[in-house]
Amino acid sequence: MKSLALLQLAGLASLVSTSPLSPSRTSTVEARQASGTSSAPCAQVSEYMYGNGTAVVKTSVPAGIAFACLDSVPFNATSGKQLIAAIRPYIDWQSTLSQLKNPPAEYVEKVQPPIDIIGGLDQIDSRIDAGTFHSEYDFGWTLYTLIQSAHDGHFSYIPDIVGNIFNFGRRVALVSVSEDGDKLPSVFAFADVIGTQFKNISYTPSPVVQIDGTDVIEWLEDWSQLGSLQDRDALYNNVFYELAQVSLGGSGSGTGTFTGGGRGRFVYPGGETTLKFANGTEYTMENYARAITNFRNITNGEELARKWISYGADVSQAKVQSLGTEMMQTISTAALPVTGAAAPGYPPANVPGPENLINGFFIDAPGYEDVAVLSIPNFVGSTAYETKFQQTTRDFIPKALAAGKTKLVIDVQANGGGTILQGYDLFKQLFPDEDPYGASRFRALEAVDLIGKATSSFASLSPREEDGNVTIQNAQVSWFDYHTDTTVDGKPFSSWAEKFGPVEVNGDRYTTLSRWNFSDIEISSFSGGINITGYGPLANFTGPPKFKPENIVIVTDGYCASTCAIFVELLTQQTGVKTIAMGGRSNKHPIQAIGGVKGVNNYAFGYIQDLAQSAIRYDGSLNSSILRRDYNSHLPIARSYSAAVNNRDGLRRNDTSGVALQFVYQQADCRLYYTPEMTVDITAVWKSAADVQWGNRKCVSGEYRQKRNVHEVTTKLSRRGVQIAQAAAMAQVQGFEQSFRLETASKMQGDGFMQP
Ligand SMILES: *[C@@H]1O[C@H](CO)[C@@H](O)[C@H](O)[C@H]1NC(C)=O
Ligand SMILES: *[C@@H]1O[C@H](CO)[C@@H](O)[C@H](O)[C@H]1NC(C)=O
Ligand SMILES: *[C@@H]1O[C@H](CO)[C@@H](O)[C@H](O)[C@H]1NC(C)=O
Ligand SMILES: *[C@@H]1O[C@H](CO)[C@@H](O)[C@H](O)[C@H]1NC(C)=O
Ligand SMILES: *[C@@H]1O[C@H](CO)[C@@H](O)[C@H](O)[C@H]1NC(C)=O
Ligand SMILES: *[C@@H]1O[C@H](CO)[C@@H](O)[C@H](O)[C@H]1NC(C)=O
Ligand SMILES: *[C@@H]1O[C@H](CO)[C@@H](O)[C@H](O)[C@H]1NC(C)=O
Ligand SMILES: *[C@@H]1O[C@H](CO)[C@@H](O)[C@H](O)[C@H]1NC(C)=O
Ligand SMILES: *[C@@H]1O[C@H](CO)[C@@H](O)[C@H](O)[C@H]1NC(C)=O
Ligand SMILES: *[C@@H]1O[C@H](CO)[C@@H](O)[C@H](O)[C@H]1NC(C)=O
Ligand SMILES: *[C@@H]1O[C@H](CO)[C@@H](O)[C@H](O)[C@H]1NC(C)=O
Repeated sequence: MKSLALLQLAGLASLVSTSPLSPSRTSTVEARQASGTSSAPCAQVSEYMYGNGTAVVKTSVPAGIAFACLDSVPFNATSGKQLIAAIRPYIDWQSTLSQLKNPPAEYVEKVQPPIDIIGGLDQIDSRIDAGTFHSEYDFGWTLYTLIQSAHDGHFSYIPDIVGNIFNFGRRVALVSVSEDGDKLPSVFAFADVIGTQFKNISYTPSPVVQIDGTDVIEWLEDWSQLGSLQDRDALYNNVFYELAQVSLGGSGSGTGTFTGGGRGRFVYPGGETTLKFANGTEYTMENYARAITNFRNITNGEELARKWISYGADVSQAKVQSLGTEMMQTISTAALPVTGAAAPGYPPANVPGPENLINGFFIDAPGYEDVAVLSIPNFVGSTAYETKFQQTTRDFIPKALAAGKTKLVIDVQANGGGTILQGYDLFKQLFPDEDPYGASRFRALEAVDLIGKATSSFASLSPREEDGNVTIQNAQVSWFDYHTDTTVDGKPFSSWAEKFGPVEVNGDRYTTLSRWNFSDIEISSFSGGINITGYGPLANFTGPPKFKPENIVIVTDGYCASTCAIFVELLTQQTGVKTIAMGGRSNKHPIQAIGGVKGVNNYAFGYIQDLAQSAIRYDGSLNSSILRRDYNSHLPIARSYSAAVNNRDGLRRNDTSGVALQFVYQQADCRLYYTPEMTVDITAVWKSAADVQWGNRKCVSGEYRQKRNVHEVTTKLSRRGVQIAQAAAMAQVQGFEQSFRLETASKMQGDGFMQP
């Protein structure tokens, strides 16, 4: 609440003084002056930030100077070689390595090209030997984009130089909207859309037709490919300002990748960006970088590296931690935009959940009296909110039913996942008598086998019981104890050997498919504390669906990933609930509802290292195994902002292909374009979803079944909606620039969460 108020002030102040499309050019003038001096780019950054004093006076610097600073750090080839060698054992845990190299034809045609990650690492190695990296950044960016090109939000290696020094951004947020919901979407400055909705701007807004001299659609489609999602329409949506993302504050992707939200923050946007509008006007903005580390006394690139890059192979864990702490402390003035009140463009919730992660709404408009909305932009990553999250649905469903709601819109826009078991729990709250499938597998690596053998033996020293020996219990609450999980038939595994397999599928080796045991006495260790509805202590929760499947519809923006993908897979495959996908590229093709990673679990490198070290503790003889050799170096962690793999593939029920869900193309049942109204008033999205599912509104691709008309379609914007959006939404655009840092408390054990 406190920081939100601050942000609003900051945002409104800048609104009054300048129109978002005509900011003062002082910073450009400063940039020219600064670059006129002879000091090194990193020294110029330091001057920007501290003036001649020691307190931070500015965190934003012109992007061009920031980039020149990064690029002035000489490449340390010795460290680079060591780093590539040290990350290979972790990269092997990526469950889709062989499928990425050789994906199904439909995936290649409609989603992304094949990518050979191991081959790419080999190439980087050769380039180090050949001396063709001209700077540390050149090397780091090459490594970053290699892993990013897998388009798997669970799979990332974000090197120090890419993720720890600067975040980049542009100050003008864009939207892609269809004027009337039928015409092909065009790109507009978000500020113009707000102005139109308010009807108080003097000019007629014009769509953007070119960016930096290139056709706008082509330019933005190319740009969008640098995002974390796999689906191209979802990637395109993620470029733009979107209410659901903004509602998540610091844990969403902000005001879109174009403005440096999500993965956009890692991409150098060039010094300036020029928009050309259909009316012929051109507008050039200066792009910015926000320093996220301490630049005090930094005089050049060498000094920056000496202070903030851990080149040494022997970096200790303590050093890794202290670096992290020190870096966080540097910009203490930057508050995260924490959401507490209603998010911009959202009405007050009828049943509010924690931190806008989940909220229950009724639509306060004639014609929608029977519609309830469960808005779920996130599945939680922090234990602080797990029980409140579960409780929100538990409170909302009976309240909605009691209020005569017979229909339910489930809005998962912006949902990049969170606690896996919350996804299952929510499914069970809606369909108590369904048995959720959800099978998964690891790659059958030697390291996985060694860890599993040691963990399973140690875990077997004591029975699986609530008040057991704590040391042994730590081993029991792990996938690597075969007593955890069940076979696909819901039976216990008889040994680690049975759980490990390996099973040979499509040219790779995987562990035997396993499923969660929701009745497991240790389940709360995997769920962040909750018991799962319908199992164990909550086994008495049974009965028919709370809403009939045809009376539920899921709304996505394609961002849906990870736990969200699990949840939507269960609803669509097991109960036949339909999906509506919003937005997408400017065409009329069908699009996918789930555009993010469909892998079902992610492990941070640090967690894998812990697993290896625990296994050595359980079985001392492993101290001479690959677990010691391959997972001892701290370099991969010390040299990254974040590093993680998708460790588990998800498989569909009744699947016989062995293809991980990540590579299965799946059209949404319906596609709708965003309209201008939907970018400022979320209820416009919900009403359209209800109109198309239960009324006579048509989908873009026109194949969706049509039913009776129960609603009067209102296109007039509600005054209240606009006011929420106007004040707070613009504040958010401004606020993110000062405070955008994405921190997500991902446990990485029971989590399926896509890093924004
Ligand atoms: C910093 O110090 C230099 C030299 O003493 C001076 O010329 C300059 O004006 C000072 N800048 C600021 C922002 O105080
Ligand atoms: C380069 O990295 C190595 C560690 O691999 C380190 O010993 C050396 O000091 C680094 N060189 C520079 C100039 O920092
Ligand atoms: C439009 O009206 C809103 C609300 O009164 C106000 O905040 C905003 O500054 C106005 N915009 C312009 C360009 O006048
Ligand atoms: C052209 O359109 C842009 C974007 O809407 C707007 O900022 C500008 O004022 C318009 N120019 C004229 C001359 O109307
Ligand atoms: C920066 O340098 C000054 C002068 O050499 C020194 O007094 C100060 O401690 C240094 N500050 C930091 C943060 O290293
Ligand atoms: C728990 O088990 C471990 C391993 O068998 C043993 O070393 C430890 O003493 C036990 N702790 C207690 C409190 O019994
Ligand atoms: C699931 O866990 C419960 C409680 O720990 C246990 O009784 C049951 O046998 C387990 N089921 C399977 C299939 O392993
Ligand atoms: C889960 O169930 C256990 C066993 O009944 C109970 O002790 C615990 O409090 C429950 N947890 C929650 C969050 O309700
Ligand atoms: C299930 O049992 C719990 C206590 O064991 C009780 O609080 C709850 O009301 C019961 N729920 C149903 C649906 O019967
Ligand atoms: C493993 O071996 C290393 C030396 O190779 C030694 O420093 C370390 O203490 C050993 N760890 C254990 C758990 O035995
Ligand atoms: C899919 O699997 C479920 C559960 O095993 C089974 O009930 C169902 O009949 C199967 N469906 C098909 C089409 O095979």
